[in-house]
Amino acid sequence: MESFSPIYSHITPRFIREADVPKGLPRLTDHKDREAVLDFTEDSVGGFFSREECGAIYDLARAHGPDGVAVEIGSWKGKSTICLGSGLKARGGGELFAIDSHEGSEEHAHVYGKVWTFDEFVNNIERARLTDVIVPLVMTSWYGARVLGRPVSLLFVDGSHNEEDVEMDLFLWSHKVVIGGLIVFHDVFSFEAVNRVWSRCIRDSGIFEVIGEEGDMAWARKIKEINYDFVENEWEPSK
Ligand SMILES: C[S@@+](CC[C@H](N)C(=O)[O-])C[C@H]1O[C@@H](n2cnc3c(N)ncnc32)[C@H](O)[C@@H]1O
Repeated sequence: MESFSPIYSHITPRFIREADVPKGLPRLTDHKDREAVLDFTEDSVGGFFSREECGAIYDLARAHGPDGVAVEIGSWKGKSTICLGSGLKARGGGELFAIDSHEGSEEHAHVYGKVWTFDEFVNNIERARLTDVIVPLVMTSWYGARVLGRPVSLLFVDGSHNEEDVEMDLFLWSHKVVIGGLIVFHDVFSFEAVNRVWSRCIRDSGIFEVIGEEGDMAWARKIKEINYDFVENEWEPSK
């Protein structure tokens, strides 16, 4: 399979039947119970989020402001996805578009070689009883930006950590975020490239107002529309 082909036509994303969920693994039943969500993700979902980061992103999804859908770029096996989805469900419902090629990023290739995380992702979402909230899009974030035309109230960016790719994710997605909506970055302090994009395009841009951080995660509220100069590859707030 070509890496990062925009969409995989041989895959029909589908949720597995209850009978296919491995026996002995826990199920998540009460999404309003924050500790239960954190125990579930900590004990039985593989991923790159600490318990504190899981709690923070759950709280953001539960409390975030204006109407719109939630979008996640980079799901891996669903750890952050389940926290976001549970937060939405705890606030009464919503939609989370979880976008991932499921072939891993550059840094995963060095450690794990070739990966395919979709089956485990689906299994975890099924166990978390979030199939009514989470819409998996098995494609690159760039292709996802072309097919999803909905206003976004919460954008979570945790896909490729290569500088040009993070920038591309921002350029293609952040104009869909509504004023007052949230943008959340992971690995913002541990990956220099991610930090450079965060600092330049979010923190110092005048387009967003940084409002919080937890561990390796930081988030900001959109306060201005964006003027993007495609030729110069620069952006600034609208006047
Ligand atoms: C750091 S992991 C995400 C971790 C996840 N948020 C968690 O809680 O464990 C990054 C993910 O981004 C995906 N990815 C990398 N580049 C991508 C791209 N351009 N489009 C879509 N997904 C991408 C990889 O397949 C990988 O699963």
